[in-house]
Amino acid sequence: MTQITYRSERPEDAPLIAALIDRAFGPGRHAKAADRLREGNRLIADLSFTAWDGETLVGSVRLWPVTIGAEAVVFLGPIAVEADLRKHRIGQTLVEMACDAAAKAGWRAVLLVGDAPYFGRVGFDAAPAKAVRMPGPVDQRRVLLKPLREGGADGLAGLVTA
Ligand SMILES: CC(C)(COP(=O)(O)OP(=O)(O)OC[C@H]1O[C@@H](n2cnc3c(N)ncnc32)[C@H](O)[C@@H]1OP(=O)(O)O)[C@@H](O)C(=O)NCCC(=O)NCCS
Repeated sequence: MTQITYRSERPEDAPLIAALIDRAFGPGRHAKAADRLREGNRLIADLSFTAWDGETLVGSVRLWPVTIGAEAVVFLGPIAVEADLRKHRIGQTLVEMACDAAAKAGWRAVLLVGDAPYFGRVGFDAAPAKAVRMPGPVDQRRVLLKPLREGGADGLAGLVTA
């Protein structure tokens, strides 16, 4: 592994990212509730980041605009790191870069569906997301929020829509 470099997603990265996601999750994965928030939505490229080992794409995280009730937040996912480069903090760095960029852009909170033990390390918590309803079946303990400013995740409740 050489030095990993990070940058915002560019349009031409899309096919490489699609292939990485297929490898990371297996083809034909169906995270139905999360997919519903991405279908017909437009990812926020400035807040979506890629990790590169030289010219090789090795990581991706994507952010999408959604609303919880009437409140605008960003939805994070998917996140994937190439299997042979895991456990080098590439995933954590991608999440932190995306969250920092979203905070700077004025977003109040980040929502995701994922493993609390992993995302808890970078400030995500199920507790403030108890009243957040995903548009499809999901284990509510995996619905996580991270505030991007003081009180940013407070009072968020209701259905999540794209
Ligand atoms: C999850 C993923 C993005 C992490 O990427 P990464 O670059 O290895 O992450 P980091 O190096 O920042 O963190 C690795 C640490 O998180 C732990 N970890 C990874 N996935 C975890 C999970 N689902 N739950 C709890 N801990 C997890 C690792 O064991 C490792 O622990 P260590 O620091 O004690 O060794 C990567 O494993 C991946 O692409 N997985 C397949 C796709 C996926 O599951 N995406 C997340 C959907 S919720």
